[in-house]
Amino acid sequence: MRQPWPELDPLLAAASERFGTPAYLYSADRIEARLARLGIDFGRWFKLSYAMKANPNPVLLRWLLGRVPMLDVSSLGEVRLALANGWSAADLSFTGPAKREAEIAEAIAAGIGDIVLESLDEADLANRLAIAAGVQQRVLVRLAPDRVPKGFGDQMAGRCSPFGIDVEVAEAALRHIAALPGLRISGLHIYSGTQSLRPDAIAENWRIFIACFQQFCVALDMTPERLVFGSGLGIPYHAGDTHLDTAAVSAAISPDLDALRADPRFGATELVLELGRHLVGEAGVFLTRVVRTKTSRGSRIALCDGGLNAHLAATGQFGMVLRRNYMLHRVGGGEPTEVVNLHGPLCTSIDKLATGAMLPPIAEGDVIAIHASGAYGASASPAGFISHPAPREIWAEHGHLSDITR
Ligand SMILES: Cc1ncc(COP(=O)(O)O)c(C=O)c1O
Repeated sequence: MRQPWPELDPLLAAASERFGTPAYLYSADRIEARLARLGIDFGRWFKLSYAMKANPNPVLLRWLLGRVPMLDVSSLGEVRLALANGWSAADLSFTGPAKREAEIAEAIAAGIGDIVLESLDEADLANRLAIAAGVQQRVLVRLAPDRVPKGFGDQMAGRCSPFGIDVEVAEAALRHIAALPGLRISGLHIYSGTQSLRPDAIAENWRIFIACFQQFCVALDMTPERLVFGSGLGIPYHAGDTHLDTAAVSAAISPDLDALRADPRFGATELVLELGRHLVGEAGVFLTRVVRTKTSRGSRIALCDGGLNAHLAATGQFGMVLRRNYMLHRVGGGEPTEVVNLHGPLCTSIDKLATGAMLPPIAEGDVIAIHASGAYGASASPAGFISHPAPREIWAEHGHLSDITR
């Protein structure tokens, strides 16, 4: 098994001893390295916006202050969490297809930067609330393109979708929104595909965004302040997944972004790259300890203290069509000689972390490290199910460990 964590293995061992398991460990140094890479590949066009749904840990949010200029939030809970952790409301964009009246009202009262409108009814509601609050609210209009290229793990457009306004009806919708006195369109937003490891597919998707942005800005004679590109940048989860070559994405899209920049209509437009997992996913590892081993009908089984309840995505229950093992290793290393099925502690057959994993001989007390776990982990898992302890969250920075469990 590929071992992307060798230098961190002693830290993983120390963290599981000191803080217990199940636990997530997030490496600040790895996020820092990823930020540097993104700066090199995309910094000449884009500023970044971190979609905090990927990992809303407060320590991470505070650490990102000053390192990433914008946050995308998707609920009032996330608005409050961002504000409580030092973010300025003006630096937030608020996406989400079913924002409730109270959420929009509080976001407007807080001075949110942009509300990302996902439907016409939402626009009318936001308009009414902004007028009642005596403000003109900035909004981004989220568009749903009619096509998402092949090569994305999940797509939010190109078919019937709860997200954004279909491009087929977008011109009339934009005219309607532009006429609402309580709102001011600051720009457009598209997030139509996630988890791609293919530079050609990502570049093609961004070309679709650019074409949509141009089409509607010209149609409405808009000079947008901001255009948000939902990145779609993925991470490798499974053995055999390729590492995403962001330099190749940059090279492929460079002529299109340079041409957009050269167009006077977009010369002063702020381009924003919105991303979640690509920033934090590979910086996280999930640690689960073997409570018991057994052999059942000739197969070796290791039963771990955290499974689906602590890391839903690793069990394949978070939008994976075919369940495949996340990359993983036994902390402490060793020659892989044993085929083992890893299960969590729950009384359900879907609580399975790995099938047929090749590992060193596994014994009670061993700690298994599951890679690519920094996004859609702790906050995306049903920790309440069967009332086992919730996973700890550990922050690792320059070799120093701290417990940052919420
Ligand atoms: C609007 C929006 N922004 C950002 C994201 C983050 O996606 P990812 O973590 O794949 O970058 C999503 C994912 O569903 C999204 O819907």
